[in-house]
Amino acid sequence: MNKQTILVTGGAGYIGSHACVELLQAGFEVVVVDNLANSKLESLDRVRQITGQNVRFYQADIRDKSALTAVFNQHDIHTVIHFAGLKAVGESCQQPLHYYHNNVYGTLVLLEVMAEANIKQLVFSSSATVYGESDSPQYSEHFPLGPINPYGRSKAMIEDILRDLAAADSINQSSSPWKMALLRYFNPIGAHESGLIGEDPNGIPNNLMPYVSQVAIGKLPRVSIFGDDYPTRDGTGVRDYIHVVDLVKGHIKAIDTLQGDAFRQGGCKAYNLGVGRGCSVLEIINTFEKVTGRKVPYNISPRRAGDLAECYANPELALKELQWQAEKNLEAMVADAWRWQSMNPDGYVR
Ligand code: NAD
Ligand code: UFG
Repeated sequence: MNKQTILVTGGAGYIGSHACVELLQAGFEVVVVDNLANSKLESLDRVRQITGQNVRFYQADIRDKSALTAVFNQHDIHTVIHFAGLKAVGESCQQPLHYYHNNVYGTLVLLEVMAEANIKQLVFSSSATVYGESDSPQYSEHFPLGPINPYGRSKAMIEDILRDLAAADSINQSSSPWKMALLRYFNPIGAHESGLIGEDPNGIPNNLMPYVSQVAIGKLPRVSIFGDDYPTRDGTGVRDYIHVVDLVKGHIKAIDTLQGDAFRQGGCKAYNLGVGRGCSVLEIINTFEKVTGRKVPYNISPRRAGDLAECYANPELALKELQWQAEKNLEAMVADAWRWQSMNPDGYVR
């Protein structure tokens, strides 16, 4: 049987590069489109080192319709995994038009090209940030949406567009309907166990795990813990940290599910990808010190605007319908993040 070809937009990035490894190892052909706005091509060289296989790479912007159309003409694409997007919350507040143009307009162009090529199977990178305020810290897919920043709203808008597409199929009784999984990631951390690929943020990291890693290696003096007076078990913020390799395995399960009976008539469905357990900032720092033997100095700073006290997934739907659950524990996430950081103190250099 011929291998199925998966188009991975944003495949040179943090999560995308890990997805390329898992897809190649699962027997798929992989085509990557990435404009390298937030990544380096070296990540894909490393994917080859890990797997012994090549991906086909196109340096292109998903907003460039003719470039994207050429890729669809060149390859027999079976499914698209759509990671390409900008993801910095603070930057999205400063440059909302840039975020909406890149994320929302970029996705519209991708969908138009897919429709023209009659390729209608899509796995989309959504985020837990689409959820609104809730009485419970454990979020289920049916909870109301209500993102509070332009980045989150760009994800929620894309979700709406995808649901509208699926609804139009049922009105039109389309013979080749859209099949779409919206994967709402909680907090992906860690790296491939080889230490060859990982998260390579530009400048000073915004997110906790890369910040802690850079303190441990001596590039930054200390972690600022944003608030220790939240109503949580130790006063610091609680999140659902998930190993990036577990997360990308969820995408392969989603591809399988989209091809099965549940999506025979098409559809668009959201799934949480999280561990289902919350972990505090202090627990992350303590685990990091225990696993790596390094000191992680910290101080307590004021709360960061827009942060929730506590947020973790109800992952039951993904278990029931995708047959997926996270397997790696916090120690493995930390050990792998540290291996990546210590083997690549300056990230990718090319
Ligand atoms: P990343 O920045 O490492 O990867 C995104 C990739 O997309 C980069 O390689 C970038 O160059 C590329 N890209 C951006 N805009 C593009 C465009 N217009 N055309 C072509 N390529 C473009 O980020 P990541 O952490 O790997 O995130 C992947 C996806 O998952 C994003 O959509 C992000 O919003 C989403 N997500 C990430 C997290 C997280 O914490 N990392 C959480 C929830 C959702
Ligand atoms: N934190 C600190 N100090 C830091 C960085 C973070 O104390 O230097 C705390 C935060 O206050 C929060 C926790 O660590 O309590 C996690 O913060 P991150 O910035 O790592 O992650 P967030 O939960 O804020 O957001 C991340 C992504 C979003 C995504 C969301 C849900 O940045 O894009 O997870 O998927 F939407």
